[in-house]
Amino acid sequence: MTDVTLFLKEFARARRDTGAIAPSSPRLARALTRYVIPSPGHPRAVLEVGPGTGAVTRHIRAVLGPLDSLELVEANPRFAALLGRAYAADPQVRLRTGPVQEQRLASYDTIVCGLPFANFDAATADDILRCLIGALRPGGTLSFFAYSGLRPLRRAVVSGAGLRRELRTQAVVQRALARHRFRTEAVLCNLPPARVHHLAPAAPPARAERIPAPA
Ligand SMILES: C[S@@+](CC[C@H](N)C(=O)[O-])C[C@H]1O[C@@H](n2cnc3c(N)ncnc32)[C@H](O)[C@@H]1O
Repeated sequence: MTDVTLFLKEFARARRDTGAIAPSSPRLARALTRYVIPSPGHPRAVLEVGPGTGAVTRHIRAVLGPLDSLELVEANPRFAALLGRAYAADPQVRLRTGPVQEQRLASYDTIVCGLPFANFDAATADDILRCLIGALRPGGTLSFFAYSGLRPLRRAVVSGAGLRRELRTQAVVQRALARHRFRTEAVLCNLPPARVHHLAPAAPPARAERIPAPA
């Protein structure tokens, strides 16, 4: 079975969790991996969340230096089995199967995330975004994408409780972007077109630093 066929099959089986009908295009993969920058002589830790069939993983792997490591966290056991076979003999790649919000994450220089945040409820999106931003080392970056142009279409077909749920999730993602984003790029060559957001953790608010020490 090809990667595209497996993707389509998983989309038909678990549309919300799979989040796309096809793997990311090479253009989208390049934008998502823009900040996976090798640093010769310094081991760098990279995390990819939701690697699916590995369309983005291949780009990350291609730019890893000999000291760098790549951790993959994939919730879907069928995608994980495919990735397990592809990287079984690679000592620089480690695979964990299960939802990222249930993992004990280490700390990373770069996190690339392929999760379909728009399909999650607000609490799950918030939980995952906090956990990923919190797992970044100083100077680290988190890159993730969202499909463009789908919002007006969704608002035309979803209403009531479903729409309120989507708006709450959007608000969570927008809050994280407002606080931590330093760049967004449009990728038109993808099905559907997408926007890639790059985030770096903002310093904690000054208020948090002024909490008086207990007497
Ligand atoms: C939109 S696909 C992206 C796949 C791949 N990164 C690509 O760009 O082609 C989303 C992926 O996230 C995985 N996923 C969904 N929820 C997840 C979670 N909570 N933790 C880890 N992976 C998850 C899905 O199984 C799927 O492989």
